[in-house]
Amino acid sequence: MDHNIHEYYETAIAVAKEAGEVVKDGFYKEKKVDIKTSFADLVTETDQAVEQLIMSRFSSKFPTHKFIGEETVAGGKKCEFTDDPTWIVDPIDGTMNFVHGIPHVSISIALAINKEIVVGIVHCPILDTMYTSMKGQGAMCNGKKISVSKISDLSQSVVIIEGGNARSGNEAKTKSNNHLKIIQSSHGIRAYGSAAIDMCLVARGQGEAYIEYGIHIWDIAAGILIVQEAGGVVVDPKGGPVDLVSRRVLCASSKTIAGQISAVVEHIDLERD
Ligand code: IPD
Repeated sequence: MDHNIHEYYETAIAVAKEAGEVVKDGFYKEKKVDIKTSFADLVTETDQAVEQLIMSRFSSKFPTHKFIGEETVAGGKKCEFTDDPTWIVDPIDGTMNFVHGIPHVSISIALAINKEIVVGIVHCPILDTMYTSMKGQGAMCNGKKISVSKISDLSQSVVIIEGGNARSGNEAKTKSNNHLKIIQSSHGIRAYGSAAIDMCLVARGQGEAYIEYGIHIWDIAAGILIVQEAGGVVVDPKGGPVDLVSRRVLCASSKTIAGQISAVVEHIDLERD
């Protein structure tokens, strides 16, 4: 089947803009917050409303396409990542920021065909910033081409990390040990609270790498293409190509930096999406 990737790309941008208005509206209002898997894993009415809106726009325009959405999966639907054209959506990436009134929130929309991401959009409505990418066409921020940093050694890098939302067991402890090891090998660490934004910052050269264990396919799908199209690398932190459902990701401005980070961290195996 022939695919009009350009049409998918333009539609995704229009849908992200529309969804951005709903996120903006919710951001300045009192929020109704519910707990999901732990007290640090939250959902609001806005997350659910935005996902419904995005899903309805794509299903009416592209009725044969499949859909993986964070809140639909949280509601009990299986995460089925197949070769079919599939929209992968996080309606609010950075829900904790949203709840606390921190502006680093994003809407992440990706389209995968044959398990390859061909469109990636990360819209940050409060920051008024939109990152867009189409396979083979480069990555843009608000319409201007972006590229990764030229720094190519970990000792001169800023590495973006996250605490994530696991609070029990060894996962949190291993992550914090890893963060210490990264601090000791780099210029420093940063954490912005949205995996999609973290990846876009690497794509635009504001930080040389981002690593996280515990994320899901909807947090990283759009960011993967944006980093790759900006000239960066996205890999499995344990080595080899990135696996979208493995719950871990490492992206960097160069293969060298990715390899240096991979060598200092202790790896964590998590249940797949
Ligand atoms: C979360 C954010 C956060 C990351 C978590 C994600 P959500 O996504 O991306 O930065 O550390 O692992 O779950 O829940 O706000 O969509």
